[in-house]
Amino acid sequence: RELVHFADIDSTNNYAKKIGNDGCPHGTVVTAERQTLGRGRVGRLWQSDNSRGLWFSIVLRPDLEPEKVQIITLAASVAVVEGIIEVLDINCGIKWPNDIILGSCKLGGILTELSAEPGHVNYVVVGIGLNINQDSGDFDQELQDKAASLKLFTGKTHSRAKILSGILKSFEKIYTMLLAGETRQIIDKWNKYSVTVGKEVRIISREVEYIGTAQSVALDGKLVVKCKDGTLREVSSGEVQVR
Ligand code: BTN
Repeated sequence: RELVHFADIDSTNNYAKKIGNDGCPHGTVVTAERQTLGRGRVGRLWQSDNSRGLWFSIVLRPDLEPEKVQIITLAASVAVVEGIIEVLDINCGIKWPNDIILGSCKLGGILTELSAEPGHVNYVVVGIGLNINQDSGDFDQELQDKAASLKLFTGKTHSRAKILSGILKSFEKIYTMLLAGETRQIIDKWNKYSVTVGKEVRIISREVEYIGTAQSVALDGKLVVKCKDGTLREVSSGEVQVR
């Protein structure tokens, strides 16, 4: 596979989009030791100014309708969880839509970006950030009680290369399932690792805010929530707080 590695870059997602536009092959992986402008979801910054984590992006050219791309993010979170189980035998959870959780803190996140025209996907960039060898002092003040790292959890330093290769292997496996139309099996795995399903959640999306119980994730990647009044709602974006 094609692998591009940087010591320093603004964001591996930015670079992946650039080469995605220039026609790089499907499956190209961009990694960096440090990002100066690591981006998180909803315009947030992702702290990645040191080489203690894994910061990488995968460029995909799936033959999917743009509406179906959300499943790729779910597949990627499953791949991260299964890669970490495979390499380290540590069980992480997934918080909808794409947070990787260890203990009750955030170990990693996924930022998927899409270039598409109506009915056609040009490319998808799946950006994955995973905290590996950080000590608590490596995190910015406001992250200290929210962020996890594998080192903080185990007391040991881990090989980022081994974890990267484990995650890429499990991603390849699950992506093959996706191409084979095994969406149901992927969703079942996602639900199995989910820390959101079965929990009472507060949904904050645009102007509305409501409380309910997370039921499951649907085939299209939306979170199904049963509200207090008994109605079912499908949440496609927004912020979910597990209570
Ligand atoms: C989140 O908000 O949870 C998503 C964080 C995604 C961070 C990764 S690090 C590699 C890639 N490049 C970026 O700029 N962001 C993603």
